[in-house]
Amino acid sequence: MILGVFEAGTQQIGGTTSWAHPRSQNGDFRDIEYWIDMAKMLDDAGFDLLFFAGGSFGYASLKGELSDVLVRAGMMFSLDGAYLIPALAAATERLGFVVTTTTGSDHPLHTVRKYSTLDHVTKGRIGWNIVTGASQNTMSKMLGQSEMVPHDKRYEAAAEYVEVALKFWEGGNDDDAVVLDREGGVFADPDKIHLVEHEGEYYRSRGYHTQPPSPQRSPVLFQAGTSEAGRAFAARHAEGVFIQGTTYEQTAASVADIRRRAAELGRDPHDIKLIVGVTIVTAATSEEAHRLRAEFEQLQTDELAAHYYSGNTGLNLMEFDPDLPLKQQLPDDGLAGQMGVSNIERFYSRPDGSAPTVREILDDLKGRGTRGFAITGDPVEVADELERMMDATDLDGFMLEAVFNTASMRDVIDLVLPELRRRGRLDPAPEGGTLRERLLGRGPHLAPEHPASVPRAVGLTV
Ligand SMILES: Cc1cc2nc3c(=O)[nH]c(=O)nc-3n(C[C@H](O)[C@H](O)[C@H](O)COP(=O)(O)O)c2cc1C
Repeated sequence: MILGVFEAGTQQIGGTTSWAHPRSQNGDFRDIEYWIDMAKMLDDAGFDLLFFAGGSFGYASLKGELSDVLVRAGMMFSLDGAYLIPALAAATERLGFVVTTTTGSDHPLHTVRKYSTLDHVTKGRIGWNIVTGASQNTMSKMLGQSEMVPHDKRYEAAAEYVEVALKFWEGGNDDDAVVLDREGGVFADPDKIHLVEHEGEYYRSRGYHTQPPSPQRSPVLFQAGTSEAGRAFAARHAEGVFIQGTTYEQTAASVADIRRRAAELGRDPHDIKLIVGVTIVTAATSEEAHRLRAEFEQLQTDELAAHYYSGNTGLNLMEFDPDLPLKQQLPDDGLAGQMGVSNIERFYSRPDGSAPTVREILDDLKGRGTRGFAITGDPVEVADELERMMDATDLDGFMLEAVFNTASMRDVIDLVLPELRRRGRLDPAPEGGTLRERLLGRGPHLAPEHPASVPRAVGLTV
């Protein structure tokens, strides 16, 4: 079971307001010590990775307008996780770090340079979560674009963005380019540095990679977004996919579809690790866990849930008939789904085939925000449900979405992890090494079947 923690460089993740609860008063997100303490705790407990969402300029809004509700609730501000990572890597030994960077708002070379540096300073413990970017309505305005780039076109451009980046990482130089021959006065061998050329629809580039080869060369490639276009993208590029599940059936279908598409492309379908977000509220007894969960839910409001959801989808649920399903009421202006499909489709139907009403969706979102599954119970109940979920969906692991920040992580570490270890679901003594070795159980570089893993050569085509 792969275990990660979901963070966003914020005081409280995922569209809920539990930052104000007394149990959450265990640090300030603007303080590097808060993140260092968290990373050390996760490293000691054997977590595989700390994941930072974000990575775009966009902010959640009410149909593009600044929402006072979201500002008051603390959902406006975040730090860029990428800048936290060097300090966290220096304080930890094995923990991996995955940080989100959106495609489409800059040239891929910014990302090439950033992740090569992070791969060096983490000693190969870095991954890139590739997204086409949340809150496109606010992001496109901030970037001065005359209109939002359509959803599928964003994915098309993202594929080329990644292709350019991979050309530099995989093809820019050889593993033994740095020779460090002090006597001969040769630092690097020019024969082992290769020209990279790209002439595409969205990007052009010609030149050399200005960073020495790093332990993994390319960061571990994660992806989030399970629309049709997102799944096709994941099957080709991703080594890890972050899914926000609503029902086991929907999640199992997404997992199976991504693995099937990967196999069709000649990849081992298990070279893609599928990970879902899960909010665990646990305590020594089931009653205590449910009491904590009720305290968390009391802090949430319809209005906040609706405004946050609008930031992800462009839809304000307060404007819909609460007694009818969402799908029936989607506007036919062509805009629905342009901001992101997964967060709409996840509420189309339940396992019994019925569709939740807008009222039911709001109730669900109030405890959820953009979080995934929720489990509340004592350690045995939580471990049972995690096992059931893995078996029902063919998932590879979980990203913990804390309710009361590090206090919730501590509860899971103290109560649930020993139970999972007792059941043989967790590695008792995880080893170090690169993040790719840890997650995929192979070498530090892209698997030979990965479309970008081809012999390094001049003018490499991925
Ligand atoms: C599970 C999940 C996680 C996401 N994480 C981020 C993120 O960290 N940063 C971001 O800018 N966008 C994020 N997005 C939004 C996507 O960039 C955007 O919605 C895009 O359209 C892809 O989603 P789709 O395939 O569902 O349409 C996320 C979307 C999903 C579904």
